[in-house]
Amino acid sequence: MTNKLKYFIGNWKMFGDISDFKIIQSINKFSNKSRNLIQKKRIVLCIPNTLIYNFKKKLRSKSISIGAQNCHYNQTNGPFTGSVNARMLKKLGAEYIILGHSENRAEGESSKLIKKKIISALDQNLNIIFCIGETSKEKRNKKTFFVIKKQIKSSLNKKFNTNKIIVAYEPIWSIGTNKILQVKELKVVISFIKKELKKLFKAKSPVKVLYGGSVNNNNISLFSRISEIDGFLIGGASQSSKKFIDIVKNYYK
Ligand code: PGA
Repeated sequence: MTNKLKYFIGNWKMFGDISDFKIIQSINKFSNKSRNLIQKKRIVLCIPNTLIYNFKKKLRSKSISIGAQNCHYNQTNGPFTGSVNARMLKKLGAEYIILGHSENRAEGESSKLIKKKIISALDQNLNIIFCIGETSKEKRNKKTFFVIKKQIKSSLNKKFNTNKIIVAYEPIWSIGTNKILQVKELKVVISFIKKELKKLFKAKSPVKVLYGGSVNNNNISLFSRISEIDGFLIGGASQSSKKFIDIVKNYYK
């Protein structure tokens, strides 16, 4: 078992209403009970904006954090119908924010726009979970390293505070598909990402790198063998307290 801090970050996507507080409550209870592991694990649930304030207020003796899943880049109020900015999310109680998720990139979010969002969220002192990853076609064409390097370079700036940035490597072909990389392959990609981040940020404290894509309570034991991974971004399985808790438990088994 590792002594290094590991992140377990849930991404609820477009899921959940007020009655789903029970999921968060169970995960929080588990997190409180397993305090012997608390030094080593950090649990974050990134939920829809509609739930952040309510859930945050209801959580007692909390040992988990709440995050958002995206924001508008504009830092102040403005004519952006339907949008919410980082400052509004921070005021609701969000501590983390997912930015650059492939589902948003697929809707037209560019690296340049993601960078603006990162800047606005850093300005609010939010912890950023910055997602990168290649499509299946890019993987087939052996473009994985090229793509992720470009994504890193075009959205991160060497001046950013590395203590507030977590990178989540999520191969797009692996999200929600039950397809995962070979352990050996994943190790190489994670090391490559860490090397690129080190080149960019030089002597600053190292950026944490997570893996995401079809993580579940069975395959987590494979991933736990890769010490380079600092944690996981968990989509579908985070919508069930049992599945999410089993992932954490099995990781430390
Ligand atoms: P998944 O999603 O765990 O359902 O594959 C991961 C993500 O989109 O962050």
